[in-house]
Amino acid sequence: MEDSTFERDIDAGLSAPFKHISSKYFYDDIGSGIFQQIMKMPEYYPTASEFEILSLQSDKIIEQLNFKEPFNIVEFGAGDGIKTRQLLKKLMAQKIDFTYVPIDISARAIRELKNNMLATLPEMKIRPMVGNYFSMAEDLSHGETPALFLFLGGNIGNYQNEEANALFSQFGSNMRPGDKLLTGFDLRKNPATIRNAYDDKQGITKAFNLNLLTRINRELNANFELGQFDFYSHYDPANGEVKSYLVSLVAQRVYIGKTDKHYSFAQNELIWTELSKKFTLEEIGELAVANNFSIVAHFMDCKHYFTDSLWIK
Ligand code: AVI
Repeated sequence: MEDSTFERDIDAGLSAPFKHISSKYFYDDIGSGIFQQIMKMPEYYPTASEFEILSLQSDKIIEQLNFKEPFNIVEFGAGDGIKTRQLLKKLMAQKIDFTYVPIDISARAIRELKNNMLATLPEMKIRPMVGNYFSMAEDLSHGETPALFLFLGGNIGNYQNEEANALFSQFGSNMRPGDKLLTGFDLRKNPATIRNAYDDKQGITKAFNLNLLTRINRELNANFELGQFDFYSHYDPANGEVKSYLVSLVAQRVYIGKTDKHYSFAQNELIWTELSKKFTLEEIGELAVANNFSIVAHFMDCKHYFTDSLWIK
């Protein structure tokens, strides 16, 4: 059950010597709305960069797919699908036979995505699936249809190295030789550009982080006072890691009703909320090789801020 997992994860994270909350918990309805605002901020370059790639280079991506028969495009965490639609539009224009299979844990997100897609691409075959990525991918792998997997948006950067490897290995285990995977990676660049993307002046990213506490208050019956916490994010250009934190401004105790426990915070104690890793092309190559993929091509935006990396199994 999602609820009890949330409760257990929050209890474990706030009881640890170095407190942490997983960034996967950002995305309740309010957090997803704030993330939409982040994607529109001028400082947050990844969305515009990937939009440029898919708008200008979809023909080249399609050329490299080289499927000889009808195939599935299986998308993990499709979001609003605006970027993916650039690729799908091109495939439809070229009369290529494919079925779009978006997978998401949220039934609502999938319903909205389907309606949006069909509004602009009414002829497209679409088979949305609601559920866990891997059980859905496993179901699909029993069929004979070749597949292109999509994992866009730079979401891979939110996983630690071992988790990223586990994810690619799971994708791989549900793919057959010749199947392909297109993953969005945010690349290393001028450190100031990256820092600004995660520490905007308007405080939208701060609100995104503080919403974790609002969510805990609401769902786990807690009494976090939001004014007693600040937001801090740090980019380390030596390893490509942006790390985001909530900072307790005073020594305080917070009560969570659901766990019936108090959690103590020292003044300036941190809660680690997110990793947003920035990659070199070498690191991407290592991830591909370690998980038995070969790189077909990198599709980068004109500033080389971001790559959609096409791999073959
Ligand atoms: C979803 N993910 C790729 C975003 C990122 O850039 O790590 C989430 C985000 N966090 C702060 N701003 C955006």
